Amino acid sequence: MLSRLNDGRRRAVVIESGDVDEVQRAYGLRSALYIELFGTTAQVHADDLALIGRHLTIRPGAVLDVGCGPGHLTEHLRSLDIDAAGIDIVPEFILHARSTHPLGRYEVGSMEQLPAAAESVAGILAWYSLIHLLPDALDRVLGEFRRVLVPGGTLVAGFFPGERIITFEHKVATAWFWPVDEFSARLGKAGFTEVERQLRPAEDGHRSHAAIAAIAETRRTR
Ligand SMILES: C[S@@+](CC[C@H](N)C(=O)[O-])C[C@H]1O[C@@H](n2cnc3c(N)ncnc32)[C@H](O)[C@@H]1O
Repeated sequence: MLSRLNDGRRRAVVIESGDVDEVQRAYGLRSALYIELFGTTAQVHADDLALIGRHLTIRPGAVLDVGCGPGHLTEHLRSLDIDAAGIDIVPEFILHARSTHPLGRYEVGSMEQLPAAAESVAGILAWYSLIHLLPDALDRVLGEFRRVLVPGGTLVAGFFPGERIITFEHKVATAWFWPVDEFSARLGKAGFTEVERQLRPAEDGHRSHAAIAAIAETRRTR
């Protein structure tokens, strides 16, 4: 997704730790270029927009776009009559989203501690926003997603598939490839059931893509 960020105009500095503050700083430094390259739905694959719309319009209620970046997918959900709000740790993205989509709701915040009560949210979109989490932190964040989702609510997550859980030189900050089955297993451990899987091979300078839609189980029995 970010391979074009290193386009010669501004040499990317890869930050190696997966630390949230450093991820925030790295995106803040490159927010203008990220917005230019990826900040509208015209730059999103039609299949991805279809997947997001298919799964996050199922039930009434609020949807959180967690790690919303420029806010274009939040706005896309709002255009589908969904009560969507965007959250991101990068203030530059939130300022951009607010000024570009003045009717939308956007807040600076972290996915590790969502500003939402337990079982208050019908859906969560995490579109390529889990990719910078240390592998151990993924379980914690999925648990936080499960906390705020109503039973039966939907999570849609996009990420980079790979054969192993391994870092790669993402152009903003250290990111992880996830084997799709392993990602799905982590979802299961956090109380989700996968309902659809989307895979796309690398094409046109874009890395291969994976997305999973999953339902929050009605009640955890384990
Ligand atoms: C690859 S970008 C994806 C942005 C947007 N979802 C999109 O599809 O263009 C990853 C986003 O996740 C955000 N992010 C990373 N860690 C986060 C955290 N702990 N809490 C909230 N947002 C986070 C980043 O600031 C960045 O906007």
